[in-house]
Amino acid sequence: MMNLREGLAAYLRKGLTSFHTPGHKGRADLLPGVEFPAADLTELPGLDMLHAPAGVILAAERRAAQIFGAERTYFLVNGATGGNQAILMALAAAGRPGAVLTDRRAHRSVAAGFVLSGLRPVYLPVVLHPDFGLALGWPRPEETALAEAAALHLTSPSYYGSAADTAALVEQRDAAAPDLPVCVDAAHGAHFFGSSFPPAPLAAGADLVLHSGHKTLGALTQSAFLHTQGPRARRLPLAQALETLQTSSPSYLLLASLEAAAEQAAREGLTEELRVETEALRAALGGDLRLLGPADVGTYGICGVDWSRLLVNVRPLGVGAPEAVAWLRREGGLEPELWDEENILFLLGVGSTPADVRRLRHSWEKYVRQCRPARPMRLTPLREAPPLPPVRLTPREAWLAPKYAVPLAAAAGRVAGETVSLYPPGIPLIMAGEEITPAILDFWRENADRRWQGWSGRSAGTVLVAGRD
Ligand SMILES: Cc1ncc(COP(=O)(O)O)c(C=O)c1O
Repeated sequence: MMNLREGLAAYLRKGLTSFHTPGHKGRADLLPGVEFPAADLTELPGLDMLHAPAGVILAAERRAAQIFGAERTYFLVNGATGGNQAILMALAAAGRPGAVLTDRRAHRSVAAGFVLSGLRPVYLPVVLHPDFGLALGWPRPEETALAEAAALHLTSPSYYGSAADTAALVEQRDAAAPDLPVCVDAAHGAHFFGSSFPPAPLAAGADLVLHSGHKTLGALTQSAFLHTQGPRARRLPLAQALETLQTSSPSYLLLASLEAAAEQAAREGLTEELRVETEALRAALGGDLRLLGPADVGTYGICGVDWSRLLVNVRPLGVGAPEAVAWLRREGGLEPELWDEENILFLLGVGSTPADVRRLRHSWEKYVRQCRPARPMRLTPLREAPPLPPVRLTPREAWLAPKYAVPLAAAAGRVAGETVSLYPPGIPLIMAGEEITPAILDFWRENADRRWQGWSGRSAGTVLVAGRD
């Protein structure tokens, strides 16, 4: 068995073209002035303190704030993951009554933030797109839900590059609940500079915005930005939460990479040349494959589409995505970000080149030619998910509760002790603390053979419930 470093080296030797994170794509020229390993330092005399910045970190955070259009930007060394957790802890400290209106597709760090903070979520339903079977759109929240909430936590853009209309939501907030903080997890949208991208949530008026610096920009993996503006984003609890959650030995490699990434994003970002190549790819493949694109804006709750993400549905070819991915990796030397049964996601980043996109297009063209004539489709589309179940325990109460396994058939009316998601669409069917309704149970049993995440008793046909046996 290879050791870890040998495994890493063996992976790199394959020389696959990256269509996944990180956004720098291994290009050293995107990290100027970051010397490795000499710069792997932490807080030393003459350097600065991440949790009480007053020198070079503060200056770099201020420059980043200017670049992204924030009032205050925090550099994060535990990714947007730490940022989501800190946002929720800070909201709890602010003590606004009510539940937090939350996107059901939120990253697991949001669920962790609920456990840490003790806050109660109310989930916004998602809109599934029939062609992709994925949660790509957003419904507008009810005015009364906004008026009664403690905060709104939205995820936009989605992993797949579809964006919500944050400006409309902020407008709705201004009318219904002017004090309500609007927090946007824009982990996947740090590169939204310029008019070819959907509007950035900060420009749309969001109070707290998270960007992963490593997903599409040039920062090193694990680094992120948390931006705030306006009086609803209370800075002291936020700084305290960040200090509670993050390491006391932040790496200057990550911090320096954030500074470089912000400067580089503003200067160049994802180039026009890259966009033109991407458009050519969409035009060449759009007849044979289903690609999420500009024509989808205005449908199924989608308000914008990021051109630098390529979500490809292979159903029209009559093949499954794993089969197509195996071919693209083997014959094309391409590595996508992720795939499910029928969709494949390719990510461009600041390190991507037009030649990468041409390579992707040529590989797809070759693959499409060899798939013709399309074989009959084998995939059964997912039926609409059942209505969201009621929240009986907060995620924290559910976390702390004793739990035991019951047969799935006997679980109706019980409170789930674990969060279980069907993949795709990868959003929770049931969250820990929610009631397992008969509709949820029917859907669960009908789809038992599909891919599940978080279902600990799958092989035994049981589910963990909260409470005592
Ligand atoms: C929507 C969303 N938010 C937050 C995160 C966490 O980001 P990070 O990897 O920077 O911790 C992810 C990671 O994939 C994500 O998809």
